[in-house]
Amino acid sequence: MRDQTAQPAVIRGSANQTRACREERVMSAMTRAIRLIVITSPDQLDQEWINRLAREAEIEHLDRVGSVAAGVLLARQSRPDLVIVDRDVDQVEAAIRQIFTHVPATHCIAVTPSADVPTLRRLVMAGARDVISRPIHHADIMNSIRSVVTAERNRAVRAASTGDRQAGRLVVVVAPKGGVGATTIATNLAVALRQVTNTSVALADIGLQFGDVGVQLNIWSRHTLHDLVLHAGELDDTLFEKVLQTHSSGVKVLLAPHELEAAGDISGEAMIAVLQGLLGRHTYVVCDTWSFLDEVTETLLQRADDVLVVTTPEVPALRNTKGFLEYLTRNELTRGRITLVLNRFPSVNGIALHDVQKHLRYPVGANIPSEGQPITHSINRGVPIVMAQPHSWASQSLLRLAAYVAGDSANLISLQHSGEKKSGKNALPGMKGRRGLLSLMRGT
Ligand SMILES: Nc1ncnc2c1ncn2[C@@H]1O[C@H](COP(=O)(O)OP(=O)(O)O)[C@@H](O)[C@H]1O
Ligand SMILES: [Mg+2]
Repeated sequence: MRDQTAQPAVIRGSANQTRACREERVMSAMTRAIRLIVITSPDQLDQEWINRLAREAEIEHLDRVGSVAAGVLLARQSRPDLVIVDRDVDQVEAAIRQIFTHVPATHCIAVTPSADVPTLRRLVMAGARDVISRPIHHADIMNSIRSVVTAERNRAVRAASTGDRQAGRLVVVVAPKGGVGATTIATNLAVALRQVTNTSVALADIGLQFGDVGVQLNIWSRHTLHDLVLHAGELDDTLFEKVLQTHSSGVKVLLAPHELEAAGDISGEAMIAVLQGLLGRHTYVVCDTWSFLDEVTETLLQRADDVLVVTTPEVPALRNTKGFLEYLTRNELTRGRITLVLNRFPSVNGIALHDVQKHLRYPVGANIPSEGQPITHSINRGVPIVMAQPHSWASQSLLRLAAYVAGDSANLISLQHSGEKKSGKNALPGMKGRRGLLSLMRGT
């Protein structure tokens, strides 16, 4: 695992100094010339429109690449402002999707032979910021480059100037039973939010003992939530920058304490100070929690904008979830939106959706399918599935969940992977006849 700490524990400094530095960085990005990669066919590298772009004063650096794989690799290494992809539609779509996933700060312009609506939709869904049809005219491509870069830089300036005042959105992922996938969902949701919104996203591991967000993201640091809690009265930019680790997706990660005893030092009051600090600095703060309704978890629930209650279609998890949902409502514990997320559904031996809802007397807001092999593989590699296998059904569900948290109103229930054939009421074989399990729960 990476040790992302290079310096000793806690260094304090002036918040104003750090803010000034950030604004300076953004201003220099505004005036900086454009760095660009053009991905085209190997025999098209010398086209006139590319030569003219290379001579433009606004273009600081232009790399020409004759293969999608090489172009994506170069984009990951050099993180340019823009990539123009000029291959056949399938390759353009694949290249843009990879860049959108792995280099979210780099924007893509697609070049296609035809700009019909289905093709445009495909490319926009993959993450293209603009689409230009062949033949390419110099004025068109320059206008496209200028408008994409200007829009992005204006957005960055607005984000930097309002960052200190704006309160972010708090998303709390909670599971009344351990092992149902809360950490998997919190981790992937944070990365997906970053991919979908390209804004500042923090992921805080509030699993106060045995928190394993760091393991799922392959991040280790000696700095954790404990450092922030011990300095709750003097939190500033320098301390947050020191303690939060930057994941390759761009998500800022606050790790759980390493020592089990540290949980005892973390009060609701200290948690409020840490939360305020995180929410003042990030557009989204996703918190993974442990399965205890202690003072810290209740503090998070009280302040949450979104509470994602994770469960699985199994009797013990559903039993705990029913009690938890009733407790939340009875005590008006949260004013935030509560969304029940049914993880590992559909799964081969799970209970039917209808029975889950009937038992919980609560609608299932979203489901994540059971995909044991890819999810286990991604957890063991420390690469979230939304990055490792963005086309998988689970990833698509997690991306939709992120879009919903970010304000999209799409339906989140998906009973089959798009492109797969329907095979029955609940999509997976082996689910018929599971209703009998409901009787096991009725007495609970
Ligand atoms: N949708 C899923 N499909 C298959 N396996 C899953 C899924 N979600 C989670 N898992 C598995 O469940 C295990 C527990 O997940 P984790 O996120 O650590 O749960 P929790 O945080 O609720 O204790 C993980 O090791 C993972 O392999
Ligand atoms: Mg967990």
